[in-house]
Amino acid sequence: MNNRTERITKRLEQLSLISDDDKCLSRFFGTPAHNEAKNLLMTWMEAAGLLVFCDSLGNVRGVLKSNQQNAKHFVIGSHYDTVYNAGNFDGPLGIILGIEIAQRLKENNTELPFHLNIACFSDEEGSRFNTAYLGSSVLAGNFDTDWLLRTDDCNVTLSEAIETYYGNVEAISNDKILEGDWLGYYEIHIEQGPVLCKENLPICLVSNIASQIRVEVTWEGISAHAGTSPMYLRDDALCAASEFILEVEKTGQKHQEKLVGTVGKMNMLSNTSNVIPAFVCHSLDIRSADSDFLIEIQDQLQHKAIEISKKRNIKLSWKVMQMNPAVICDSHLKDVLRKSIKKVGIDKSIEITSGAGHDAVMISKVAPVSMLFVRCTDGISHNPEEYASPEDIEVALKVSDQFLDELIKEFN
Ligand code: GLV
Ligand code: MN
Ligand code: MN
Repeated sequence: MNNRTERITKRLEQLSLISDDDKCLSRFFGTPAHNEAKNLLMTWMEAAGLLVFCDSLGNVRGVLKSNQQNAKHFVIGSHYDTVYNAGNFDGPLGIILGIEIAQRLKENNTELPFHLNIACFSDEEGSRFNTAYLGSSVLAGNFDTDWLLRTDDCNVTLSEAIETYYGNVEAISNDKILEGDWLGYYEIHIEQGPVLCKENLPICLVSNIASQIRVEVTWEGISAHAGTSPMYLRDDALCAASEFILEVEKTGQKHQEKLVGTVGKMNMLSNTSNVIPAFVCHSLDIRSADSDFLIEIQDQLQHKAIEISKKRNIKLSWKVMQMNPAVICDSHLKDVLRKSIKKVGIDKSIEITSGAGHDAVMISKVAPVSMLFVRCTDGISHNPEEYASPEDIEVALKVSDQFLDELIKEFN
């Protein structure tokens, strides 16, 4: 392992110790651990020689400025928030590699034809406010001020969470990079799936990112005594939700070559063994590489939910929280990346579709995007067992250095 890879793996380890939960890694947006991670990232970026600041949404941003007039921005980014009980690599790997890439260019006094930005996005997972890509939406100028009123499980609004640690919500719109000022975006991420392991390859190109719809589904029945209410006289919200959830599974199985569907989060009242549940609120996450097909599935599932709610006399609310169409990675950036892969001696280069969402989705609304996937053991992710080897990380670093060198040559 060379010195740079050693620094990367040490930093991954160090960041993974910053958690809000002492039993596992959990770092949601706007928590003490999240703020501590932000501060650590700032010190690493400063040590790398970048001009560092934290924007109003807690995105840590470091810039290497170009001396050229009218230079545009090239951004390397990923996220530092995590899911609950997370692994060490989802998000941080792309950030820490980004800092390393910039540090080499700084140490070599490289003349840059573009401003090189390293962006550590504060929220990609959306674990706390059900708002995936919050951080990158700010850079892309796509932050929707309606999101400020969203609440977490303790009724804290996003607006309050932002103001506790990061700043002034009024200033969010000033933190964007203007649409015409973008040159491109690059994100390095673990694959989070099994293809690279099967192909025995350390890295590969990403061709496209699946479309994703998130819905918040609420079922309201009547709470009643579990011992005295006959089975035929109940308005049980949890039974209605359960029937629907099995429908989501069935739909996913029916179209398994092009659809996945998950209910991963649920809150219920009164959550007591002898009370019939009166209230259930759960997430729905559906994804497909085919955006139109996904919209059709969303309609179908909503109709199914309406049917169940009528049959069971349960009040239903269906709130679409997020709808992101599929993203195609930029063909020119992909060509440059493919050439860089070849130049570091990897002859076989494949492209895969990402089922996982990435900050690249939000940035694609304003700039050409590119992504490199790094093999992770058995494709395990969103799990503490998540792992990418130092050897594969070293390959990703070499490819990325080469990619930046090619881009610098091209735009000089
Ligand atoms: C993030 O990991 C997502 O795909 O939801
Ligand atoms: Mn991620
Ligand atoms: Mn993730």
